[in-house]
Amino acid sequence: MDSIIVTGNGPLNGQIPIAGAKNACLTLMPATLLSEEPLTLTNAPRLSDIKTMTTLLQSLGAEVTQMQAGQVLALSSHALDNHVADYDIVRKMRASILVLGPLLARDGHAVVSLPGGCAIGARPVDLHLKALESMGAELELREGYVHARAPGGLKGGVVEFPMVTVGATENALMAATLAKGTTVLKNAAREPEIVDLAQCLRRMGAQIEGEGTPEITIQGVDRLNGATHPVVADRIELGTYMLAPAICGGSVECLGGRMDLLEAFCERLDAAGIAVEETERGLKVARGNGRVKAVNVTTAPFPGFPTDLQAQMMALMCTAEGTSVLEERIFENRFMHAPELMRMGAKIDVQGGTATVTGVERLKGAPVMATDLRASVSLILAGLAAEGETQVNRVYHLDRGYERVEEKLSGVGARIERVRET
Ligand code: UD1
Repeated sequence: MDSIIVTGNGPLNGQIPIAGAKNACLTLMPATLLSEEPLTLTNAPRLSDIKTMTTLLQSLGAEVTQMQAGQVLALSSHALDNHVADYDIVRKMRASILVLGPLLARDGHAVVSLPGGCAIGARPVDLHLKALESMGAELELREGYVHARAPGGLKGGVVEFPMVTVGATENALMAATLAKGTTVLKNAAREPEIVDLAQCLRRMGAQIEGEGTPEITIQGVDRLNGATHPVVADRIELGTYMLAPAICGGSVECLGGRMDLLEAFCERLDAAGIAVEETERGLKVARGNGRVKAVNVTTAPFPGFPTDLQAQMMALMCTAEGTSVLEERIFENRFMHAPELMRMGAKIDVQGGTATVTGVERLKGAPVMATDLRASVSLILAGLAAEGETQVNRVYHLDRGYERVEEKLSGVGARIERVRET
């Protein structure tokens, strides 16, 4: 298994290009299932999760062609010949459940494996299923699979989510585009990836209003056409790279970054004493001399502080001046990076969903273990600022969500290399 070796090397300076959003692309790709005409996605990220979604769509009979070294994805679902999403693919990636709504809306039947557990919490899919049931789907759970049918087609209805869920909002939104009549999604997620999906679906001919607010209204249409859509910038990759100069010092411009994608996060950086400035090409982050200030963080659905940046923010807080309290409100068990950071000399006390971090002057390099996608990059960030060498093991998690991480960070002066194991 590959590992990454990072050596603390002082301030970082330069530019880092931000890729298209993994989480947006993972919901835009299944949107191809809604139409017989081609869907082209530009600005696609090159990640192993995108490969997994490609394999899943191909297993259903869709055609997925990579162009321009993977930055353009040409998708076509004119001849679907399978409506079963197999466990072997779905278990690798939870977002696979996003094929359920589109398949059901298009052809009235689908069988999709349940994704199963996940390292960062139980993460059930009950709210995806309830939303589709509110639209007339008949569901049965048998042998680990959801067997779904909508014999007369899906019907519009009111779907009220008891909690904000990104994936279930996406599944219901896609399904509602082809349902008969009007669907209203209440307490819908407001994430930029939902807005991006709605914009793409609208390009395909869907009638949608209210994306980016808690209430989305969809007027079902008979069919959707093809479209070309650029994937929105990855706000989590953006926030991660903004933290690199915040931790190491220096000044880095993140090309393609937008403040509106990360307002709550930028506000916390500002409170910690890190300057963020909008430039013509993106966002520039600079840190002067001296330590950053400790700040408290509570994760929340958009527009709140993203849970997917909590681990990376914790890496920053490990060397801040003072004590910070990080509260994780979205997923239970999302502090697996804490014991690894402690191996590097961090002082962290985890009690349930709350981590209290007392900043130390300097972290020390150590061998550490990546436990999930965002945890792995937080260890790399910590290693960049640590004294000596940090070896991050099990980095396959990283490849799910960060393209060319070594290249992007070494481009701004970091000492980072991948050790490939055969
Ligand atoms: C998406 C993102 C993930 C991010 C998360 C929260 C993708 C591919 N992944 O995941 O990176 O961390 O949003 O911003 O876009 N829940 C239920 N029942 C359900 C669905 C969700 O109880 O049927 C719970 C979850 O366990 C969690 C909360 O709702 O506690 C939010 O999860 P959700 O927003 O659905 O996350 P995902 O869409 O899986």
